[in-house]
Amino acid sequence: MIRFIKDADEKRRIAREILESLTDWFGIEESREQYIADSAGQPFWVSVNEGINEGFLCLKETGKETMEIAVMGVRSECHRKGIGRRLFAAAKDYAVQKGYEFIQVKTVRSGVYEDYDITNEFYKSLGFKELEVLPDHWDEANPCQIYVMSLKSAVNTIATRHSYRGAFLQETVPEEDLKTIARAGIDAPSGCNKQTTDVIVVNDPEVLARIKAQIDPPIARTAPAMIVVLTRRINAYRDRCFAVQDYSAAIENMLLAIVELGYQSCWYEGHITDDDRICDKIASELNVPEEYDVVCILPVGKAADEFHAPSKKPFSERVRFNRWG
Ligand SMILES: Cc1cc2nc3c(=O)[nH]c(=O)nc-3n(C[C@H](O)[C@H](O)[C@H](O)COP(=O)(O)O)c2cc1C
Repeated sequence: MIRFIKDADEKRRIAREILESLTDWFGIEESREQYIADSAGQPFWVSVNEGINEGFLCLKETGKETMEIAVMGVRSECHRKGIGRRLFAAAKDYAVQKGYEFIQVKTVRSGVYEDYDITNEFYKSLGFKELEVLPDHWDEANPCQIYVMSLKSAVNTIATRHSYRGAFLQETVPEEDLKTIARAGIDAPSGCNKQTTDVIVVNDPEVLARIKAQIDPPIARTAPAMIVVLTRRINAYRDRCFAVQDYSAAIENMLLAIVELGYQSCWYEGHITDDDRICDKIASELNVPEEYDVVCILPVGKAADEFHAPSKKPFSERVRFNRWG
């Protein structure tokens, strides 16, 4: 299990326990002590199994847009179990959710020490790309390889999107960002290009308050903006209507744009389209024409609370190659 540690003493204790078991990598006492001291103030994850701390990872900010893996250590006897990969996945999730663009890591260049060759291969297998080698950054015997990874890829954003149902910070969402989100929605594919999905962006506090007042039980009470999703249920051809598929593609596009811009949201459809027809009350509040239905609302704002990925079935239970079994 990967745990996020907040307590400074616990961080120092775990970092010490693991780094002191890894003297092949962290043999210089002075720099080891520095890593341990620094870890107390850094975002920190530990992998725990049956009470044993197997490994840990800390991040540090090296620029407004960039995080660095400050230190990562996994006990030798726990290597090759996917622990480093899981620690990194948790750290990457965190960096993406905080809106960082890049993550970097430094290690000794390949071809100098066997142990570090394995480290280089590990970073490359995570998706890091070689940025530059700095021959004198540490010393001549230890040329420093910098690896970098862009966090703003579609695949990363997909992996770090989770439904957010907590409170929002009271910060206005710039209109440009709302336009980018709406544009992502209308850029989605649609059956026969019928473009059956429209959106209403709500950022006027008075209109927002009127919509929120229609939603009982309340959701997204503190959201500083909302996207209201509308569908026009027309046929694409003969009796085939793809309106549901069309608006689903538009909603997912918008959720991804929201996350990529550093905001959070949730696909609220069930809540507003139930027997109490909150969707119709919202439609009437917004003067939506009769041929359109309100089907979903997406709150938009910066998360004020922490949140986690929900548990999902394992990959192997849902993905097969070439045949079912
Ligand atoms: C069609 C649809 C309707 C949804 N309606 C609601 C809803 O009314 N309220 C809610 O809290 N979440 C709603 N969700 C969000 C799901 O609960 C959520 O996607 C699911 O639990 C998986 O979590 P994840 O989004 O974090 O991966 C809806 C999602 C979809 C696709």
